[in-house]
Amino acid sequence: MAGRPRIAVVGSIIMDLMVTTPRVPQRGENLLAHGFKMGPGGKGANSAVALARLGAEPLLVGRVGDDYFGRVELETVRRDGVQTDSVVIDPERHTGIAIIMVDDYGENTILVAIGANAGLTVEEVAATLRLHWAQLAAVLVNFEIPEEVVRTVVQKAHACHVPVVVDAGPPRHYGVETWRGATVLSPNMLEASTMVGYPVEDEATAERAARDLLAQGPQAIVVKMGDRGAMLVTATERTMVEGFPVQVVDTTGAGDAFTAALTVALAEGQLLSGAVRFANAAGALAVTRFGTMAAMPTRQEVEAFLRAHPLRGC
Ligand code: RIB
Repeated sequence: MAGRPRIAVVGSIIMDLMVTTPRVPQRGENLLAHGFKMGPGGKGANSAVALARLGAEPLLVGRVGDDYFGRVELETVRRDGVQTDSVVIDPERHTGIAIIMVDDYGENTILVAIGANAGLTVEEVAATLRLHWAQLAAVLVNFEIPEEVVRTVVQKAHACHVPVVVDAGPPRHYGVETWRGATVLSPNMLEASTMVGYPVEDEATAERAARDLLAQGPQAIVVKMGDRGAMLVTATERTMVEGFPVQVVDTTGAGDAFTAALTVALAEGQLLSGAVRFANAAGALAVTRFGTMAAMPTRQEVEAFLRAHPLRGC
């Protein structure tokens, strides 16, 4: 690999309060959980740490509150090598928090109090990125920040010829003008359903959704389909890139590991189908561990995993 690619992540920073539970409680119910763990998270911060562990040089652009959670988040991501000079401390809003319930099947349900992430402005993000465009190999942005910020990042990246990967999570009704300039748009099935307005639940509907989204501007669509893998659709290609069967402990954050791995592979010049396979491996490793940021895999782990799971027929 020729140097570490410099990648900006414009996204959310959130403290995760994770409760393991036999199931999600019903309305009005008082249910005894198995346990509790707190850890730094947020789609942007998770992806930035994943990028660092996968061999990139990430720069995180986001907002935290002037509070304990914000300080823990920043100290943790810095320890992993993420540059945080462009994270603004919001004097009024609290650091974002997420209450995450992980059930006995490893599936998660998340309630987010978005806090400082909602205060991210177009002006401050544009001013920060202006200093970095010339050195950036890629930009990664997600939907856990204001829509106008996502739109500005995508449009500016497009204008500066810097590849931009848009993680279309969490599900939000962000308009086509926000993401049409994406190099790669990557929703999971639920997020894809939100974007196209019909259920996406299998290969056929994932392909239909990918084609409908592709027709609106992005250069490639990658629909994350959990343990089944990912559907890659471009103007000239339609590939179902198979996933890896693993023991699921906790699916939270797997999408962040996936999108970070996809971005780093693209920044290194890998072909899209190879990049998606690399991303599937990163996502598979993340679901074998409990937690969000803590579950992000390293480059060595992903490469060893891929060696242990060679392509069939090769
Ligand atoms: O993708 C997982 C992340 O989504 C969690 O870390 C949580 O903060 C939520 O934003």
